[in-house]
Amino acid sequence: MTANTHPVLLRIDASAQSNAKSISKQLAERYQRHWLKTHSHGEVVHHDLADMTLPYVDESFIEAMYTPKDKRTGEQQQKLALSDALVAELKRADALLISTPMYNFAVPASLKSYIDLITRAGETFRYGEKGVEGLLSIKQTVVIMASGGDYTQEPASAMNHATPYLKTILGFNGLHEVRFIDAAGMNMGDAVHAKNLQQAQQQIDALFA
Ligand SMILES: Cc1cc2nc3c(=O)[nH]c(=O)nc-3n(C[C@H](O)[C@H](O)[C@H](O)COP(=O)(O)O)c2cc1C
Repeated sequence: MTANTHPVLLRIDASAQSNAKSISKQLAERYQRHWLKTHSHGEVVHHDLADMTLPYVDESFIEAMYTPKDKRTGEQQQKLALSDALVAELKRADALLISTPMYNFAVPASLKSYIDLITRAGETFRYGEKGVEGLLSIKQTVVIMASGGDYTQEPASAMNHATPYLKTILGFNGLHEVRFIDAAGMNMGDAVHAKNLQQAQQQIDALFA
C-alpha cells in the first residue's frame, strides 16, 4: 500500500527512439496527459530507459542481493542502491505505465535490465509454503507496445515473446491485472499503420472515459 498524499504515476519508456519518432512514447504521452487530467495533484515519475544505460546483473550484484540486509557491506549497499531506488519507486506508485517497442520478438534489452533490477526476493516477491507471492500492489498497470508486425492473432501470436513475458514477470511481482494496448503492424503500410494506431489511441482514451 502507498502512503502518498497525492497519486503517483510511474512511467517507464523503453524505446531507443526519441519522442518525436517513437510511436510507443507518443502513446505513453497520450496516456500521461489523460492521467494528469483525471488525477488532480498527480505526480509523474518518468524514466526514459534510453537515457539511463542501466547495468546488467553481475556477480557482485547477486552476492549483495543474497546477503541479508543487516549484513551488507557499504560496497554491497552501494551496489544495490539503484535497484533499491527503483523498487522504492514501484512501491510508491499508484499507477504503472510501461511503453515499449517489440525488438526481435521480445522486449528491448534496456527494459530487460530494468526488470532484472526491480525483481528482488523479499522486496517484490517471496517464496512461501504455497509457492511464489508477488509483493507489489499497484492499482493500475498498463503496457503499451508498438511493433512493426501484427501478432495480435494466431498463428502469428506465437512469435510474440514480449507480451507473455511481461505478463509473467509483472504477475510474478504481484501485478496480476495488466492492461495491454498494442500498436501493431506499424511497418505494414500506411493504411494498417493508421488504422491500428487509431485503435490504440482509442483504447487509451477509453481507459479514462
Ligand atoms: C532493433 C529493432 C528490432 C525490431 N524487432 C521487431 C520484431 O521483432 N518484430 C516486429 O514486429 N517489429 C520489430 N521492430 C519494429 C518496431 O517494433 C517498430 O518500429 C516499433 O514502432 C518501434 O517502437 P517505437 O516506434 O516506439 O520506437 C524492430 C525495430 C528495431 C529498431
